[in-house]
Amino acid sequence: MKKILIIGAAGQIGTELVLALEKKFGKESVIASDVKEECPKALQNSNYKQLNILDKEGVSKLVKGENVTDVYLLAALLSATAEKNPAFAWELNMDGLFNILNLAKDGFIKKVFWPSSIAVFGPTTPKVNTPQRTIMEPTTIYGISKQAGEQWCAYYNRVHGVDVRSIRYPGLISYTSLPGGGTTDYAVDIFYHAKEYNKYTCFIDENTALPMMYMEDAIRATIELMEAPEEQIKIRTSYNLGGISFTPKQLAAAIKIHQPNFGIDYAPDYRQTIAESWPESIDDQQARKDWKWKECYDLNKMVEVMLKKVDPKLLF
Ligand code: SER
Repeated sequence: MKKILIIGAAGQIGTELVLALEKKFGKESVIASDVKEECPKALQNSNYKQLNILDKEGVSKLVKGENVTDVYLLAALLSATAEKNPAFAWELNMDGLFNILNLAKDGFIKKVFWPSSIAVFGPTTPKVNTPQRTIMEPTTIYGISKQAGEQWCAYYNRVHGVDVRSIRYPGLISYTSLPGGGTTDYAVDIFYHAKEYNKYTCFIDENTALPMMYMEDAIRATIELMEAPEEQIKIRTSYNLGGISFTPKQLAAAIKIHQPNFGIDYAPDYRQTIAESWPESIDDQQARKDWKWKECYDLNKMVEVMLKKVDPKLLF
């Protein structure tokens, strides 16, 4: 029987992934876990357990005790937070991965999902339509941890036969729970401020384009990748995933279609340097070919849903 464990379930991706997996496989097949003691509101009807991914014994006990088959390991520090706490970011992002890969290597987990990011790329990477295989010289701690993690995933697959699958997520846009500590978070923040104040001060420069994706697409991609037959998975580092690319200026223009008086100004901070080191757009032909990936949301469709669904009470 399938038993899925989501680690980092209280985060931006985790919350929505838990709900989607429960819908697909039934509540009895899904365990949501996070380091937070209190179960997040959105997961109040889920099977929630407190779990610290760095507690090797605790993780092993839960995986073995619950006969877990599939693990989605989402606990990590994102790019901006990681720059502020590099040592902890490295420990959390890498040791957490080892704890899961080793349990899979020893036969206690059948399938692992581990998220990578556009942060694996750097300033020397071709910026437009960044290929699956290209120069990768990440300049952030987060990017370095993701690049190293990708290689460890490929190694565990090659040497130990671990079925680990991964996506290089672009910036993810959603309304169920807030993102925390990412460079692409402006593209979520902006909707809360648009709805509450009809204006926003953006920490990314108006003309810096970044690859983004609406969460519903990202969740569907994740589950489709995990459910694809093993022989179709040709990339064991991590798959490029494209989505929508836009600048803050283009996003503001799309918001103005609904709120003509929406005002935006710009105060780029340290996150601008991070953004400038990342691609503008991503070539995801390989994912399209291997497991038939196709996105559904474009910029306007995403903006329409976000403006409708964002609840400013979550932030203010
Ligand atoms: N959205 C992430 C960040 O900005 C990138 O993976 O850190």
